Amino acid sequence: MSNLETYLAAQNAQPAVADIITTITKVGIQISDLLKRGALADILGEAGNQNVQGEEQKKLDVIANDLLLDALSSNPHCAGVASEELDNATPANQDGDVLVLFDPLDGSSNIDINMAVGTIFSILPYNNQGHPATDEDFLQKGTAQLASGYILYGTSTVMSITLGKGVAMFSLDPDTKAFVQIKDQVQISPDTKEYAINASNYRYWLPPMQRYIDEFTAGKTGVRGKDFNMRWVAAMVGDIHRILCRGGIFSYPFDTKHPDKPGKLRLMYEANPMSLLIEQAGGLSTDAINRILDIEPTSIHQRVPVVLGARNEVEYVKKLHDEMN
Ligand code: AHG
Ligand code: MN
Ligand code: MN
Ligand code: MN
Repeated sequence: MSNLETYLAAQNAQPAVADIITTITKVGIQISDLLKRGALADILGEAGNQNVQGEEQKKLDVIANDLLLDALSSNPHCAGVASEELDNATPANQDGDVLVLFDPLDGSSNIDINMAVGTIFSILPYNNQGHPATDEDFLQKGTAQLASGYILYGTSTVMSITLGKGVAMFSLDPDTKAFVQIKDQVQISPDTKEYAINASNYRYWLPPMQRYIDEFTAGKTGVRGKDFNMRWVAAMVGDIHRILCRGGIFSYPFDTKHPDKPGKLRLMYEANPMSLLIEQAGGLSTDAINRILDIEPTSIHQRVPVVLGARNEVEYVKKLHDEMN
C-alpha cells in the first residue's frame, strides 16, 4: 500500500505544502508516542495558565503547541504560524511561501480520561514575502486554504488530509512510523441517521436548532419518520473522523451561553480546516446559514457556529433557519 510520500507526489503537491505536511506528521508521531505513555510521560493535568481563548490550558495543549511551533519555525517554507494556544501570530521565515494554522491538541477535556484527541491544521499561502508575517496575513477566507487535515490519536493514529482534490486517509504504522494510505476519495453520504451535538446546551440554542433536534428525538413518530442515533466524542477530530468514515451531521451551533462568542469553535483552527475536508468529501459546512469557507475573517481567534456533514441535513438546517427567521 502506498504511504504519505507517494500520495503527495502523485497529487503533484506544491513542495512547500508537501514539506509542511511531512513536518506536521513528524510532530504527530511525537504526540502519539507521548499519549501512549500517558501519565508515565507526565503529560496529564493542568499547565496552570489560561490561553487567549479564556480556557485553562492542559499540559499537553502546551507541549503539543511548542512541538509544532518549534518544528514549523525551522521549516524554511513556513512564513509564520497561528495557534489556538498563542496570543498572536508568530512569524517564522519571511521568505517562506506558506502560513500554518493549528489546533495543536483538540479535545483537551479528553486528555486526562484516556479518550481520543487530535491535531488539526490548515495551510494558507503567504502573500507578503520579504516581510515578517503578522496576524493580518492570516486573515484569509477558508477557500484560500492550500491544504488541511487532522491527526486523530485514537485506538490507532490516523490522519485525513485534503489538498483540494478529494480526501485521503492514512494510518500510522507504529513499527515503521510511516503513514500508510488506507482510503482515497473519501465520500460522505448525503443522508444520515446519526447526529453529534452537545445537547446540554439545548436551552441556549435558537428556536430553529431546538426544532431540528426535537425532530430527531421524536424519531419515527415525528415529521422525519425515522429514528436517529446520537454520538458526541467531545473532540471535534473524533466526530469529524466518524463522519468521514460512516456519515452523519455535526453541530456546535450558535448559542446564547456566552453572548460575546457566536459559537464555541474557532474559525481558523477548527471550522475552516474541517470544512475543507467535509466539502472535499461531498458534504456541506455552514454556520447554519452561510458557507463557512466564504467567511471573511476579522480576527485569528474568531469563533463561529458550525453545522457540517451530510449534505441534505445541512441544507435542511438552513431551510429551518430561513423559515423561522
Ligand atoms: P479544544 O480542546 O481544542 O479547545 O476544542 C474542544 C472543542 C471541540 O473539539 C469539541 O467538539 C468541543 O470543544 C467540545 O465542547 P464541549 O465540551 O462543550 O462538549
Ligand atoms: Mn482549547
Ligand atoms: Mn479544538
Ligand atoms: Mn485545542
